[in-house]
Amino acid sequence: MAPKRILLGITGGIAAYKSAELVRLLKKAGHEVRVVMTRGAEAFVTPLTFQALSGEPVRTSLLDPEAEQGMGHIELAKWADHVIVAPASADFLARLANGLADDLLSTLCCATEAPIALAPAMNQAMWNNRRTQRNIELLAGDPQIQLWGPDQGSQACGDTGPGRMLEAQALFERIVAEPDGRLAGKRVVITAGPTREPIDPVRYISNHSSGKMGYAMAAAARAAGAKVILVSGPVTIPAPAGVVVRPVITAEDMLAEASRAVDEGCDLFIATAAVADYRPDCCADDKIKKTQEDMTLALVRNPDTLATIAARPNAPFTVGFAAETTDVEHYARDKMQRKQLNMIVANDVSVPGLGFNSDRNAVTVFWPGGQQSIGPESKTGIASQLMDLLAEQLP
Ligand code: PMT
Repeated sequence: MAPKRILLGITGGIAAYKSAELVRLLKKAGHEVRVVMTRGAEAFVTPLTFQALSGEPVRTSLLDPEAEQGMGHIELAKWADHVIVAPASADFLARLANGLADDLLSTLCCATEAPIALAPAMNQAMWNNRRTQRNIELLAGDPQIQLWGPDQGSQACGDTGPGRMLEAQALFERIVAEPDGRLAGKRVVITAGPTREPIDPVRYISNHSSGKMGYAMAAAARAAGAKVILVSGPVTIPAPAGVVVRPVITAEDMLAEASRAVDEGCDLFIATAAVADYRPDCCADDKIKKTQEDMTLALVRNPDTLATIAARPNAPFTVGFAAETTDVEHYARDKMQRKQLNMIVANDVSVPGLGFNSDRNAVTVFWPGGQQSIGPESKTGIASQLMDLLAEQLP
């Protein structure tokens, strides 16, 4: 791949030692690296280490007349193809989320038009703090920003939990893989996971969807350069980096949240969610007691999110999924026609090891002018190939 110009920002955290290895990996792969350190970073690692590894002077100060004579801070911001801040401390995330420009690194982040990847690193309690999470939510909604990590595990302070910086090798792989730009500038809304339809305060109707297919689609759309909102039913998998997740419970919530996300601007709407077609006509206030031998639940039809979005006057490009066990092509094409979709992705969920709650899948995509089969392979691989197809088909 062509060499990239990487601006590496280092902020104050013990994980700064991993960034030395990141510089070494980037240089070895032929990329140009310039390092900017905050005052906090200098308490953990020395500029000399990074100067020796990058072969370039390390910048630490915004108002440095000598540096401004050479590559000034605005030139440095324009020079970068990609800005990576690793480690990104809680303090730096807060300043970036609020647009502060009170040191060299935050100023560069304000001045650059390059994508900015953040590798958070901090104590688990600081990561979980609601003010940090509010800042993360703001940053995740910014199309220029990608959040890489953090990882879970044991921490330097002895705690265990989320907040570890990703390893240098993992960061390196993301830098060289990003961004491919197939869906650059596109706004994508994806539904994923199951819905839960409450029967009483402790019971609900649902299905086996794990969200893996939808989350893989969201990660692939993000990797293709899109701004992604993921409207997700209850699942246990982590949010993909750089994707805004809007959690929902019921089919009615899903319609409301997806409609709101589409109102914010949407070029492509992808419905991977397994939405409950029916819900109990009312939810009992108290736990239902088993006083009778038989019990009958009255169900009413749920609204159809995908069909509702597709029927809008200025509908985005709409893609449905169809989980079938028989006559897959017939039922999938019928859904595409009835719901007025641009494309449908059919999966035969009767095949063991594929479909619901599995890491793998096999799909056939149908659209008015053609069809294409993908897999069996990982849901990640399928999602990436679907993005290739969508990039070709999108107007
Ligand atoms: O989550 P995983 O464990 O990874 O599993 C992935 C999957 C099998 C759930 C996924 O690949 C899949 O096939 N999703 C569609 C599930 C389905 O049964 O769809 P459907 O045939 O009921 O609906 C057709 C389309 O309309 C779907 O895009 C669905 O999201 C949408 N729909 C359906 C009903 C409804 N009320 N609202 C909707 O938006």
